[in-house]
Amino acid sequence: MTHKGKLGSGASAPPFSFSEVKAITSDKFCKIYSRKEIVKTLDSSKTLFSYEFNEHYHSTKDGAFSESLYKHIIPAFKYQQDKKTIRILDICYGLGYNTLATLYYIEKNNLDIRVEIISPEFDLELINSLKDFDYPKEFDKFKDIIISLSETQKYQDDKYKIEILIGDARDSIPKLKEKFDIVYQDAFSPQNNPTLWTREFFRDIKNIIKDDGVVTTYSISLATRLALYENGFNLFLYEDKHIRSSTIASPKLLNDIELVDMPHKIKINPNAKSLRD
Ligand SMILES: C[S@@+](CC[C@H](N)C(=O)[O-])C[C@H]1O[C@@H](n2cnc3c(N)ncnc32)[C@H](O)[C@@H]1O
Repeated sequence: MTHKGKLGSGASAPPFSFSEVKAITSDKFCKIYSRKEIVKTLDSSKTLFSYEFNEHYHSTKDGAFSESLYKHIIPAFKYQQDKKTIRILDICYGLGYNTLATLYYIEKNNLDIRVEIISPEFDLELINSLKDFDYPKEFDKFKDIIISLSETQKYQDDKYKIEILIGDARDSIPKLKEKFDIVYQDAFSPQNNPTLWTREFFRDIKNIIKDDGVVTTYSISLATRLALYENGFNLFLYEDKHIRSSTIASPKLLNDIELVDMPHKIKINPNAKSLRD
């Protein structure tokens, strides 16, 4: 999967070792990141490797910032043009690249919109540490937002309302009442984080997405697509020269994008199954 690869093995190895990381970071930072290691990705933005999930938080090849921008934000906004308010479910917050790259995209394109972002995340220790994280320069102007989210898990101004919901996404998502325009599905891989890829999980997502809403995800596996398809989503293959192929799902039929022929895929893979709770 996109984020996978054991640290130190072959192509996924980080460009510097843990001892080097220790040397370039403060004691406090190392303590907070005790079960995680900082890794510089190919676009120079930094991500983490999680020993708990045995996986990087982002694709080291696509780059943390690039993956976020080109795999989630740009395709999602392409199908939400002309809206004046947009509600986004960012699953899960992690280092917050998807939330912050959303703000970056809005500011860069001078979009006159109001955005509300809700993001489940169960790792409060990580969230509390993010005020010290070495983000790419594109996020410099969001320093106040980064600090507020890190310390209080909330931020609000005239344009943006952001909240991190601390706890298991499986508990918090079914409690959300208002519907969403965009869902960034960016959990760890189905192998390592299976509860966030099941048919039942995507049923909960279907219940809270608008009819013209879009889900973006790096997963192109048939099991993931089946779990979405079995809940009435149409599946699309998204391609951009900056990153590897990804999936967009929507209750609506989208234009100008390749529809994945699910009946055909099911016919030629009769034993394929979605993950189940
Ligand atoms: C791949 S990372 C997300 C990266 C993030 N989107 C970013 O841009 O930095 C996956 C995140 O999901 C969180 N997570 C995994 N399972 C979860 C669950 N059941 N509920 C809430 N958070 C979960 C992990 O703690 C981790 O921070």
